[in-house]
Amino acid sequence: MIITPSILTANFCELGNTMDEAIAAGIDWIHLDVMDGNWVVNRTITFGPALIKSIRDRVGSEIFVDCHLMVTNAEENWEQYVDAGVDLVIFHVEAVEDIQGLIDNLHARGCQAGAVLNPATDASTILPYLPSLDLVLVMSVVPGKGGQSFMSEMEEKTRTFRAAIDAQIDAGGRTTKLMIDGGVKAHNVAQVADWGVEVAVVGSGLINDKGTIAENLAEIHTALGA
Ligand code: DX5
Ligand code: ZN
Repeated sequence: MIITPSILTANFCELGNTMDEAIAAGIDWIHLDVMDGNWVVNRTITFGPALIKSIRDRVGSEIFVDCHLMVTNAEENWEQYVDAGVDLVIFHVEAVEDIQGLIDNLHARGCQAGAVLNPATDASTILPYLPSLDLVLVMSVVPGKGGQSFMSEMEEKTRTFRAAIDAQIDAGGRTTKLMIDGGVKAHNVAQVADWGVEVAVVGSGLINDKGTIAENLAEIHTALGA
């Protein structure tokens, strides 16, 4: 399983060093949580394309960078994130009118397309788009901040996507990745691996004052039996 850090609990004045530390610990995928102060329930603002470009310049082209757009107008401003250098744009299906159109636009720019669902959103909203999605993200917290508790009731939805993606691959279709995001820690990461998740976002479980990123990542790998 790929573990990718969300940087929401990092010290934003130290982000370059945090990126260096994560990469030195073996991280090769960074998850960037973009919130516009409007879309998430607690009206958080995090950062936008300017910071993402700085992060891309710092980490170089070998590191895979995604952005999780928790914004009201992803259909209007998705291109800023592609221009900032992300490899994958993950948009919320609840905030997009023309899902296939956005996927096609992203692909036309050579960017991967991912769809993310809030806990309350049913899998059926994006099953029809699975053949063209590079990634599906199941939220296991209500988007808005790091450090929330994991919602184990996301098991059924996650397993539904696992089965649909496996059937798609067996039929020669796209190898859509399955990602989970929110509240994942060493104590529950084996559980989400059992659900068939391939990529887990870990924020406060990796970036915290209890240990270094390397120490926290080692704990997660131990829990996975890696
Ligand atoms: C929440 C974000 C998540 C979050 C993960 O809105 O999308 O990426 O930062 O952080 P933890 O792992 O601390 O829940
Ligand atoms: Zn996220």
